[in-house]
Amino acid sequence: ADMPVVIALLNSYSGLAASATGFVISNNVLIISGSLVGASGIILTRLMCKAMNRSLVSVLFGTMKRGGDVDLDEVYKDVRQTTAEEVAMMLEFAQRVVVVPGYGMAVAQAQHAVQNLGKLLEQRGSSIEYAIHPVAGRMPGHMNVLLAEADVDYEKLIEMDQINPTMDTVDVAIVIGANDVVNPGSRTDEASPIFEMPIIDVDRARSVIVIKRSLSPGFAGIPNPLFAMENTSMLFGDGKQMM
Ligand code: TAP
Repeated sequence: ADMPVVIALLNSYSGLAASATGFVISNNVLIISGSLVGASGIILTRLMCKAMNRSLVSVLFGTMKRGGDVDLDEVYKDVRQTTAEEVAMMLEFAQRVVVVPGYGMAVAQAQHAVQNLGKLLEQRGSSIEYAIHPVAGRMPGHMNVLLAEADVDYEKLIEMDQINPTMDTVDVAIVIGANDVVNPGSRTDEASPIFEMPIIDVDRARSVIVIKRSLSPGFAGIPNPLFAMENTSMLFGDGKQMM
């Protein structure tokens, strides 16, 4: 998301350069058009930085605000690990299953495996939905495109605002390769760079399975207290293989 901001800034500089040239060669058209391009580029740069809640300096030099020093051993002391067999047993008794995909599903190219599991569960009488966070992955609509490629029914993709009020009734939430978009710390941790970012409330589901390779952080670089919650089990491994 930083790249368009830099491009807008460079565009505005090209306008300012044109305007300066206009002064040197006494050309009013260049002065006026250059000023317009320069001013609009700077306004656009400012608006985009404000929308991302970041300063121009941090956009240009690529720094994200970090949430201070965190003792990871403390945060993750209650992490519980599970196996594919245990998850299969859990799913056998689940009525309502929600899959929450994230960037890791794209890395693992696990969308077809996700769709296969969904089909299997439906054949066995469970209901399956896919909860889509607006910034899951690395580009707008990333998850929608991948799941559409795997022929997942479009009506089964449920937007965050729509699925969140019903999360209490979910028997098993399967988080595959998502991290920041399910981080409950965003509600409470004021020092977090994602403080107040709305998340998919998987922590309110009866059981949560998180599929990822390790406890390493996502894009925002912060720990996720979800991994150590009582109702969460971690299934460590590559998204596609674990599915
Ligand atoms: P992230 O928070 O980035 O987490 C992705 C997780 O996927 C990682 O923790 C990683 O853990 C796991 N992973 C990587 N490879 C995997 C694999 N092969 N198998 C299984 N898991 C794997 O993803 P998110 O929850 O989708 O959040 C998106 C983030 O990107 C947000 O912070 C958002 O602001 C940011 N962002 C989004 C966009 C748009 S428009 N979507 C644009 C720029 C930035 P392991 O390494 O432990 O496996």
